[in-house]
Amino acid sequence: MSVVIAVTSGKGGVGKTTLCANLGYALASFGAKTIVVDLDTGLRNLDLHMGTDIQVINNLMDIAEDRCEAEQAMVAIKNVSGLYMVAAAQTRSKSALTKAKLSEALSKLRPLADVILLDCPAGIDNGFIEAAVLADRALVVTTPDRTSVRDADRVIGILGSEQMHSIDLVVNMVQKKLIRKQACMSVEEIEETLHANLIGVIPMEVKIAQDNNLGRFTSRSKHGNGKIFRKIAAFLMKDVDLGGLTSKDKEAGKTALKNSEINTDNADVNEKDTSDIPKQEEENK
Ligand SMILES: Nc1ncnc2c1ncn2[C@@H]1O[C@H](COP(=O)(O)OP(=O)(O)OP(=O)(O)O)[C@@H](O)[C@H]1O
Ligand SMILES: [Mg+2]
Repeated sequence: MSVVIAVTSGKGGVGKTTLCANLGYALASFGAKTIVVDLDTGLRNLDLHMGTDIQVINNLMDIAEDRCEAEQAMVAIKNVSGLYMVAAAQTRSKSALTKAKLSEALSKLRPLADVILLDCPAGIDNGFIEAAVLADRALVVTTPDRTSVRDADRVIGILGSEQMHSIDLVVNMVQKKLIRKQACMSVEEIEETLHANLIGVIPMEVKIAQDNNLGRFTSRSKHGNGKIFRKIAAFLMKDVDLGGLTSKDKEAGKTALKNSEINTDNADVNEKDTSDIPKQEEENK
């Protein structure tokens, strides 16, 4: 049975699509057949992050409205076995993606995957709400910016009111220099404010933006930032393997992450790792 994860934030531009693309790669490399679905109707860009922009023929609305089989809208990512992307409809308005339409599309995609990542649009309207209702769990992304944390707080509140019981948190674009100068919130402050289960902290790195622009996966590297994405994926994968989330497992996963006990080094990666190992500590000084 597949697990559907809504990746959401409230505020735009915080790294949802970056996280989806990289978790997709990592999950697939761990052996989970993964479909990343772009819910940003009218403003899609997941295809660019995944290096597939020229191959998109059918999209999510085509599945929902029976214009194609689900497989025909699943773009296989080159050189990564088990990783697929479904694009958002570029020429439709956001309101076209109703709960019934997304539910229809997901019912056709679920049997074809172990994990489905829903790359939500910014905001708390169409796309987000449908995903909040239909997903099995949510991954909330925030930056250390107060505005982003406030929006994440609102999103967590809405997810709770939609009976979403499994909510994890990722803090992206962390710059130690700014935290030291108190120019943004610290990770501890964010955790305290949001009361969410923190499963990953990703630094602000030129290399990550560069990889995105080139349609490359940062998570193909088992080191540096790649390792961070892979650990988050390992946490999610742990629950996929168990077929459900218990609070004990969740706690164990968090402890494992903090103690770096999750060993992703045996993962079967299909591409040769040729990336530079980012020196995040130094760059953040
Ligand atoms: N950790 C990071 N370090 C540096 N740049 C990053 C990082 N994460 C994301 N970015 C860059 O920030 C920008 C926004 O990222 P992304 O598109 O993933 O955000 P988003 O939340 O999906 O945005 P939207 O709300 O518009 O969908 C992109 O240019 C991306 O390359
Ligand atoms: Mg996005």
